Amino acid sequence: MSLEHLKNKLVKQFLCATQISAVHFDEMTDTDVSLILDLLTHDTLQNFPLKTPYVAKFLKKMINQMEKKENELCDEIYYKYIELIQKDPNEGPFYKHYAFNSDETDEIKSILTIQESTSIVSHGTTGLCTWQAGIAMACWCLRNKHLLDNRVIMELGCGTGLSGLSACINCKPREYWFTDCHSAVLDVLKNNIQVNQNLHTFNCKFKVVQLSWDNIGDVKLNYETKPDLVLAADVVFDQNMFDPLCDALKWLMMNGTTEIYLFCTQRNPETFKTFQEKLKSCNLNFKRDILPDNYSILLQQDCPIYVIHIK
Ligand SMILES: C[S@@+](CC[C@H](N)C(=O)[O-])C[C@H]1O[C@@H](n2cnc3c(N)ncnc32)[C@H](O)[C@@H]1O
Repeated sequence: MSLEHLKNKLVKQFLCATQISAVHFDEMTDTDVSLILDLLTHDTLQNFPLKTPYVAKFLKKMINQMEKKENELCDEIYYKYIELIQKDPNEGPFYKHYAFNSDETDEIKSILTIQESTSIVSHGTTGLCTWQAGIAMACWCLRNKHLLDNRVIMELGCGTGLSGLSACINCKPREYWFTDCHSAVLDVLKNNIQVNQNLHTFNCKFKVVQLSWDNIGDVKLNYETKPDLVLAADVVFDQNMFDPLCDALKWLMMNGTTEIYLFCTQRNPETFKTFQEKLKSCNLNFKRDILPDNYSILLQQDCPIYVIHIK
């Protein structure tokens, strides 16, 4: 995909299938329209397609907007729209493409391609789609490369792998361990790693490990070395998980050098408060920061996203 395509905000949002209601079609330009039309026949979207109903909805909005402005539209966009609405909407797999900017400039650093489920919970797990905190963590890695430099990193509940891929491709850790408890999640993750290995250079060794916090014994058994850094995104949402998660964090911290960053979407303030109390009761000292609004145009910050740093 040429980087020329990605200068425009609307195009970046289209590629990562930003919720239609969050896209400002009223700001759409003629260039956006021609870039998007161009992208629809691009190899990347042919090989790794976005969800068909999403593309159809997006085109419909574009058509409506252009008609409203009484701008002339080429026939191609109407043909493409008709072709899409006639397609089987469930014919997957579907992908999203996240274009990350470099931290210092507006330049695109990398475009990560991620296979995602179209439903929030599928196969009994939340790990088959990428969550806002996961996107935030992926951006944060790019902006805090120095914190990842040459470190052995373990990610808990890594899901589809967007954040970890950002760390391996955009930063320079020594090792990266992708971990999650769910087999279906790990299968999709392995596929996402493979897709991105064909598109990018990985800057570190990595491994994929099936690991559940519910069984801290596995962690003890399999890791004679502890990681320097533990990362996790959107793992604080179910109070039933707090005990095993905190036990795992406590064990990981016991060497006195491991640091932890948790990226948390605060959907329910009470749940989030309970988690912080749980951390305190486990003597896990932490600092809490909130990510600024508009942290990245790849994000929809409907709920606040916090970063908890345990040290
Ligand atoms: C909401 S998803 C977040 C996924 C990813 N980090 C992201 O932000 O897109 C929570 C993830 O935690 C994993 N998970 C849930 N309970 C777990 C447990 N007890 N042990 C390990 N992983 C768990 C799920 O399989 C899922 O991938």
